[in-house]
Amino acid sequence: MANAPLLFIACVVSVLLRTGGGATIRRFKWEVGYIYASPDCEEKLVMAINGQFPGPTIRAKAGDTIHLQLKNTLHTEGVVIHWHGIRQHGTPWADGTASISQCAINPEESFLYRFKVDKAGTYFYHGHYGMQRAAGLYGSLIVDVADGEKEPFQYDGEFNLLLSDWYHKSIYDQMVGLSSRPMKWIGEPQSLLINGRGQSNCSLAASLIPGSSTCKLISKDCEPVVLKVLPNKTYRLRIASTTSLASLNLAIGNHRMTVVEADGNYVEPFTVDDMDIYSGESYSVLITTNQKTSSNYWISVGVRGRKPDTQPSLAIINYPPNSPSKLPESSPPATPLWNDYAHSKSFTYKILARQGTPKPPPNADKQIALLNTQNKMDGYTKWAINNVSLALPTTPYLGSMRYHLKNAFDTKKPPESFPSDYDVMKPAKNQNTTQSTNAYVFQFNSTIDVILQNANAIAENVSEIHPWHLHGHDFWVLGYGDGRFQKKDVSTFNLKNPPLRNTVVIFPYGWTALRFIADNPGVWAFHCHIEPHLHMGMGVIFAEGVEYVRNIPREAITCGMTGKMLIDNHLP
Ligand code: C2O
Ligand code: CU
Repeated sequence: MANAPLLFIACVVSVLLRTGGGATIRRFKWEVGYIYASPDCEEKLVMAINGQFPGPTIRAKAGDTIHLQLKNTLHTEGVVIHWHGIRQHGTPWADGTASISQCAINPEESFLYRFKVDKAGTYFYHGHYGMQRAAGLYGSLIVDVADGEKEPFQYDGEFNLLLSDWYHKSIYDQMVGLSSRPMKWIGEPQSLLINGRGQSNCSLAASLIPGSSTCKLISKDCEPVVLKVLPNKTYRLRIASTTSLASLNLAIGNHRMTVVEADGNYVEPFTVDDMDIYSGESYSVLITTNQKTSSNYWISVGVRGRKPDTQPSLAIINYPPNSPSKLPESSPPATPLWNDYAHSKSFTYKILARQGTPKPPPNADKQIALLNTQNKMDGYTKWAINNVSLALPTTPYLGSMRYHLKNAFDTKKPPESFPSDYDVMKPAKNQNTTQSTNAYVFQFNSTIDVILQNANAIAENVSEIHPWHLHGHDFWVLGYGDGRFQKKDVSTFNLKNPPLRNTVVIFPYGWTALRFIADNPGVWAFHCHIEPHLHMGMGVIFAEGVEYVRNIPREAITCGMTGKMLIDNHLP
């Protein structure tokens, strides 16, 4: 009898622990500010978090909730951070996109990001205001499987490689150039960085040869990354790219890589000697350290898809008992020829969903086609989608749509296709474009097909790679093709095992088809992940179910031309 209350208490405690265990809240306090750092051995201003560049790695378990207090300590500009790959179910206001999901956080002010990380995988975060990503505002976000769950592959240890590119010109210089008449292009990056470290203007490989002094590692900031491994083990390398411009290829001397994850989704494992990584993508690969232990080995990262003017970046795989600074016996693996698109396509086409991945609905309710072109507008250079170049409103869409504000953005429907006689193989006959803040509003829960159509840029015989990233969703990649998409291509769609991703590439002169379900109430950016392209208007806005959005923090939406009306009229 006396034991009953005790038993009862024991039960209550165990329930609390169990629910507590499944819903851990992880709290962070961050400050964004500029620091001096030398990511490629040259000292510059770098946008850092808590004095760190790249920013701190967030590590969580699937099902956890992140509470992250972000304080802006930049002196004169706003800031936001986007959690790339996190779908923000129920918290679209925490997506961290200036003018879309929230107002930029003013200097000396703070904002609480609160969101759930519901799916294990390799993600990252980055600034999403102006070109702040290119200023160094980024870091990794890694979600492990929930307690008691298992990854569908085994490994003994893991390493994280966050790839980026680096310019010596400030982002202000870059942005002014891009928005000038005539446009001043940013050019190729001065260096490629691995976990924020690289070397400009010198070759690390050469510098490690005794007696050579081509590369002065003047700062700890630019020492190469070393992965210390043990022999005969399997390691998971998490690889993500947050480059501003460069498409990348990564290879490891003497080691093959088995790709097992892409953008937080498992893929059917396949093995390669080198892999392409476009900005906005993330992968996990497995490697086995079964090589001669008397040597170290290079990891080499080089540029794809643009004539490179940037040295490959190198890291070292260090087998014991070698010193980490011992030069690998063989030279760094060479990046495939920059314009060997057949090589890139063969890699990309190998990415298929692992068995057990949710399948797409068999049909779409709606199909839209988005033509990507480079254009002119009053002498300015722009990128446009169906001849509309994206401009952002001063009041974020999320608030103005949710509360039906008048005149907050252009409510005209954006074009859902492009002229049937448009020749994607040639520069446009009429290169002029218009600019707009309009948005694609989808019926809640409908299935949408998007055909991304690439085309010739302004110059003859030029068509570039564009990696497109969707916020708030994963999508199925149904297929790729060369030339102009045709109705009959629908019959070639892969409905059996299309990979789920959040970023996908369109190859030069090609098309890419994807499908997603508009089931996440909110307003979502869909854009080319190349920072200067986005800055020049290469994106669109998707929205669905905004009427169901609840609990938007008022500071997320009460800014800009019409945002003040929200304070006066609508919000408690
Ligand atoms: Cu990683 Cu809207 O971007
Ligand atoms: Cu682009």
